[in-house]
Amino acid sequence: MANIQVHEKAFKLFISKEEIAKQVNRIAAEIDQDYENEIPLFIAILNGSFIFASDLIRSVNITAEISFVKVSSYEGTAVGNMNKLIGLNTDIKDRSIIIIEDIVDTGNTLNKIMPYLKEQQPKSIEIASLLSKPDAIKYPIEVAYNCFDIPNNFVVGYGLDYDGLGRQYADIYQTI
Ligand code: XMP
Ligand code: MG
Repeated sequence: MANIQVHEKAFKLFISKEEIAKQVNRIAAEIDQDYENEIPLFIAILNGSFIFASDLIRSVNITAEISFVKVSSYEGTAVGNMNKLIGLNTDIKDRSIIIIEDIVDTGNTLNKIMPYLKEQQPKSIEIASLLSKPDAIKYPIEVAYNCFDIPNNFVVGYGLDYDGLGRQYADIYQTI
């Protein structure tokens, strides 16, 4: 489909499922090499990363574990906006962690989560992201495995939503 409508907004095809598969395979091969002798723990951040995560873990050949977490934000508290990680029931001490994100925009979400994870003394933490918006980044977030750098436009599809809708598309779309 060349154009789609999500809520009141029109979107056009931006990255095809074939291009996505190619990049997912590329970073999977890098992960295979970098974690050859380890059993990393993938931590996929829901909801947006669920399709990317399922493709990525089926593309790697190494033995790996996967856990799914959510970031909840409590707004308007005395300490300002806080992001908490929900659902991480695994002990990550001395583990090699690969966070799976759908998109690194300002980097705010990961900037808040990383200290919490590092506190638990994993062996290493790297980030795998489907998309990054270099023009929007505000925090020093290093993405070791990035599929695409994209301009600062809103995107949907392949797990990403606009106000709850649009996650089911196999391709990625951007606002017209
Ligand atoms: P930050 O700014 O914390 O943002 O790096 C990361 C989260 O914001 C959401 N986000 C988007 N979601 N299309 C989306 O569907 C976009 O273009 C977009 N930009 C940011 C997303 O949930 C991500 O985890
Ligand atoms: Mg979202």
